[in-house]
Amino acid sequence: MKKNWLQILFHFAKEHKFLFIWSILFSVLSVFAGIVPYVIGARLIAMIVMKQKSYQEFIALFGLMLLAFVLKTIFYGISTKLSHHAAYNTLNNLRNAITNRLMLTSLGIVKHFSAGSIKNAILDRTEEVEIPLAHMIPELSANILLIIVTVIYLFILDFRLALSALLTIPLASIPLFLLMRNFEAKYQAYMQANNEVNNVMVEYIEGIEVIKTFNQTGSSFRKFSSAVTGFKDYTLDWLRTAWKTQNLVFALLPFTLLGVLPVGIWLYLDGSLNLNQLLLGLSLAIGLSSPLNKLSLFANDFSAMKQSVIDTQRFLELPVLVFNKKEIGQVIDNSVEVANVDFSYTSSTPVLTGINLKIPNNSFCAIVGPSGSGKSTLLQLLTRFWDIQTGSIMIGNVALQDLTLHQLNSIISYVTQDSFIFKGTIADNIRMGNPNATEKEVRAAARAARCMDFINKLPQGFQTEISFGNGQLSGGQQQRLSIARAILKDAPIIILDEPTASIDLENEQQIQESLLKLTKNKTVIMVAHRLGTIKNADQIIVLDTGKIVGHGKHAELLESCPTYQRLWASYTQTEGWHIDNH
Ligand SMILES: Nc1ncnc2c1ncn2[C@@H]1O[C@H](COP(=O)(O)OP(=O)(O)OP(=O)(O)O)[C@@H](O)[C@H]1O
Ligand SMILES: [Mg+2]
Repeated sequence: MKKNWLQILFHFAKEHKFLFIWSILFSVLSVFAGIVPYVIGARLIAMIVMKQKSYQEFIALFGLMLLAFVLKTIFYGISTKLSHHAAYNTLNNLRNAITNRLMLTSLGIVKHFSAGSIKNAILDRTEEVEIPLAHMIPELSANILLIIVTVIYLFILDFRLALSALLTIPLASIPLFLLMRNFEAKYQAYMQANNEVNNVMVEYIEGIEVIKTFNQTGSSFRKFSSAVTGFKDYTLDWLRTAWKTQNLVFALLPFTLLGVLPVGIWLYLDGSLNLNQLLLGLSLAIGLSSPLNKLSLFANDFSAMKQSVIDTQRFLELPVLVFNKKEIGQVIDNSVEVANVDFSYTSSTPVLTGINLKIPNNSFCAIVGPSGSGKSTLLQLLTRFWDIQTGSIMIGNVALQDLTLHQLNSIISYVTQDSFIFKGTIADNIRMGNPNATEKEVRAAARAARCMDFINKLPQGFQTEISFGNGQLSGGQQQRLSIARAILKDAPIIILDEPTASIDLENEQQIQESLLKLTKNKTVIMVAHRLGTIKNADQIIVLDTGKIVGHGKHAELLESCPTYQRLWASYTQTEGWHIDNH
């Protein structure tokens, strides 16, 4: 069942409920201390009007008034400190839950969202929950309580006086209703405009190389600036339509004297109230304005918070890949078997059809094929970035879906087609493969992946800081780092997607040697474009438009597989071209 937004919020806040409760208690103390000066004020005025000259009482009352004011301020401070603490912790839980969910869902779904909209949900949308959460829970509860208590007291004085103090509530409800009527639709449109700015901004920054290369700075900047202007126009437009009703609510709701003053005077003249009672009634009614004012402010905050939580909800409820919690199968070796697998990203176009292959324990399997034939897709099915729709994939005789996440992660090491470098030192980046690795092991992995030549040239060697994305490293250097990462991980099955595409021939050959050494007790599955490097593979799988059109050793395929013959011919031509040009 879909949770409603309040349930979601309470779910993340409940861990900190005691902080919230304490914060409410202090807030109640603060608002009640806040009403004391009004009661004393009424008493003081009554004393003056009735010419009672008791200086002692006057000073005592004045002192009490000051004390109440100081207490109110202190209690309010404690209450907000506690509630901000609780609110930020709640936010933290919410943010972690979204990030977690993104990790557990299939990659296809994550990639469906733009980086801007994910960042927006995790950072900005959740942040908008903080202020309302921190202020609304304690202050709203305390202020509502204060309104109730004050109104009950007014009822005790005279029910007509009490009713007249509440007169502004029905009056302000009319513009409030008008204001809130379209709020959700408007707020959604506002968020959409905001998302658009975020998306265009992230795209602009991520694509800055392309934009500069193609000299598109003018048009790209226009796209960015028009998104910003669109956002500004929308916000101003919304404000323009809302300001009249909004101000009417803000002005009307706290204006309790509107009813209380004429009714109070009438009741006084009528003899139903004495002067003391009248002054107390008027003073309490004025004291009601501040909590009523808060109520009208919270009405806005409440809706904004609701929309923000709903906005994060779509991330919190993304479908997750189901993993077994407990190991149910024992992986017996490093073999991989794919049987009758079909796969498509969208229902209309199949990307892989009828895939059957067996990769024996500790063998080297190469996958080749034209661009777009489905090589990366096949690897990503093996690593469970996506779930297969039909057929089965077995690893060491256990179905892929039966492995726990931990099992899968420790069995497979995967080097993707585009290597990603994180902000941190070179050593940190390699150590991602195995956080517990010693310095010696990190160095050995770097050596095997032929990283030493460039690491030695960096100012601080392994301790050089690099920025995330591509940083200061060349494409080939980044690839070598991610190979080092995979080598360090030392998983029994290594899957590599064109790991050496941007690496020069000399380094490539040496990396191949390192990888081959690894295959002594590991299974290696590698997509390769330069066929020369995989000639010695135990098995070569040839993919074409999502089907396996050949498998076997190099020599066999050269004889029997037309796609392989074509790939080989084009490879030898380019390599020949290389040699000619040297
Ligand atoms: N996330 C995705 N959503 C939809 N279609 C996709 C997605 N990723 C790949 N495709 C499509 O699936 C097909 C196979 O893509 P894949 O990346 O597996 O090819 P490839 O053989 O690895 O190509 P290359 O050699 O260029 O890396 C292509 O037609 C591609 O357009
Ligand atoms: Mg690919």
